[in-house]
Amino acid sequence: MAGPARPSLADATRGRILFGGDYNPEQWPEEVWHEDVRLMKEAGVNTVTLGVFSWAKLEPRPGAREFGWLDRLMDLMHEHGIGVVLATPTSSPPPWMGRLHPETLPRDENGQIEWWGSRQHFSHSSETYRRYAAAITEDLAARYGDHPALTMWHINNEYCTYDWGDEAARTFRAWLQRKYGTLDTLNEAWGTAFWSQGYDGWHEILPPRRAHYLKNPSHVLDFKRFTSDMLLECYVMERDIVRRHTPHVPVTTNFMPMWVGQDAWRWAEQEDVVSVDLYPDPRDPLGAQHGALVQDMTRSQAGGGPWMLMEQAAGPVNWRGVNHPKPRGLNRLWSFQAVARGADAVCYFQWRQSRQGAEKFHSGMVGHAGEHGRTYQEVRRLGRELAALGHELAGRHIEADIAVLFDWNSWWASAQDGRLSSEVDLPEVVRSWHRALWEANLTTAFAHPEHDLSPHRLVVVPQLYLLTDAAIDNLLACVRGGGTLVSGFMTGVADEDDRIRPGGMDARLRDLFGIRTLHEWWPLDAGEEVECDGPRGVFRGTLWSEEIETADADEVVPYKGGELDGLPAVLRKGRAWYVSTLPEPAELRALLSRVAADAGVRPVLDGLPGGVEAVRRGDVLFVLNHGREEVTVDVPDTHRDLLTGATVTGSLSLGRYGVAVLKPSP
Ligand code: GLA
Repeated sequence: MAGPARPSLADATRGRILFGGDYNPEQWPEEVWHEDVRLMKEAGVNTVTLGVFSWAKLEPRPGAREFGWLDRLMDLMHEHGIGVVLATPTSSPPPWMGRLHPETLPRDENGQIEWWGSRQHFSHSSETYRRYAAAITEDLAARYGDHPALTMWHINNEYCTYDWGDEAARTFRAWLQRKYGTLDTLNEAWGTAFWSQGYDGWHEILPPRRAHYLKNPSHVLDFKRFTSDMLLECYVMERDIVRRHTPHVPVTTNFMPMWVGQDAWRWAEQEDVVSVDLYPDPRDPLGAQHGALVQDMTRSQAGGGPWMLMEQAAGPVNWRGVNHPKPRGLNRLWSFQAVARGADAVCYFQWRQSRQGAEKFHSGMVGHAGEHGRTYQEVRRLGRELAALGHELAGRHIEADIAVLFDWNSWWASAQDGRLSSEVDLPEVVRSWHRALWEANLTTAFAHPEHDLSPHRLVVVPQLYLLTDAAIDNLLACVRGGGTLVSGFMTGVADEDDRIRPGGMDARLRDLFGIRTLHEWWPLDAGEEVECDGPRGVFRGTLWSEEIETADADEVVPYKGGELDGLPAVLRKGRAWYVSTLPEPAELRALLSRVAADAGVRPVLDGLPGGVEAVRRGDVLFVLNHGREEVTVDVPDTHRDLLTGATVTGSLSLGRYGVAVLKPSP
């Protein structure tokens, strides 16, 4: 029986787009708070996140509580109609905790302690840490649960700590006992017969600490699963506390995009609101595509519905080697891109740029230049535009005929030492495939390989090295049910325990793709290319190639020259495609465009100039110019541009970083 309906982002947005950011006013004298509120209101800020790193301020000594400053802030926000996303401060314990309870500090692979003095120095497995975290969460929820400014809970921040210490060793063993029941089962699953690793007692098992040579990959894989699960336990513990006090208030925790340590599919199921922090590099020519990928993935984790952009930067970050500002207009463009791809909240780290501390060179919505600075002026314009448009957009879903499959387990298993090529990085491979779809203006969702794939006509697998039996059944059912499947290289190679499947690829998948024998994998060096004799001419493949023999493929693109001359590089059997190399970008785009067209999937708009993105959110059409030159875009039918009020018939001009938000005119 389904439980009571959970609150959602809509409970916080109430038909608006949320606009605001992390607000860390404990850095500033109180007179600045009043200045902040004035500027927030001018900029249409309707939400702030308070308290993310406030633990030492709230609990300066064990068990002490200092809520007065937060009371005043909550009241101030409410007085000015600004909602508060209230964070639990548990990502950065106060110095006293590490001093009094050293077991709360995590240890790295080499046994080194991660000391206080930065942030996120907690062991997910420490009972002491969890006890203190629960207590401060309980007291925050009791104190502010009824506060009228409270709109959402933000648990912790970017959960990302690993721990190889003794606390983690204890919980790792318990986790393994739950998973395997007996040591025999564990030994079998980990293949400990190799290299004399057989375990004779649970106490012999450690987190995979620094070792002489390659570690057991199944051990490492389970440790990654365990770490994600332990962090999730910490989140769920705090979530359940705030839920008990405020069942009507939605709960989130902010993801880092495609972060390796968190199986975000599983985490998202435990959230009322899926939120992400997104910082594309303004200098990256593919920054917009990176943004689109993360946005597509976050929306998919939110079940296709609205999601929250919890953090972005109004200008430079401070954690790249060289940190570039955003050129004029780029912050606005990328913010609209997020809204186009389903965000109902556009927020920043942080409201006011710090003058001290590790992030003083990281931009804020109000930069060091203050209210007359370009950064704030652009923020203010954007906030006003979003305020005017919000009611037309909030809550709308996005339909995607295409799903790209991604799975953390497969990533963890494929990213280990001892593999054939360290040049192959799964997120990069996924980026290449998503880029091809993005450049072809084909709207894309992401899915887990065991999700229901029936809503998608085309399923794209950039690479899923590890596939469970259930996932393989799912892929087969997808094609049997009329779907089209395209897979990149090294898919279906290993089972759930990272055991290579006989034949180097699951037999049923080989049959699906028309592969009789997979003789050898032929990884390519950095910069090495193979040629393929495609229907549109010769194209280059990079990263990987395979020595495959086909029996019954319906279509083959062969390798040309070299050791694999004449053998299939790309093959199709019915509606299943296998691509054994990474085709150059234009070729991958052409291939996916053709496959999509065959599957009856159309781009959002035809004939778009390069660098122009079009997305449909409900019946609203977003057109975004990622270039600096003016472009003309053909748009069928008549629309009204919600930003300018202009009527658009037939075509549209967009200047540098221009945005149009088009609603069909009746
Ligand atoms: C993360 C954190 C923030 C801040 C930003 C800087 O997203 O959540 O606290 O450190 O990075 O980019």
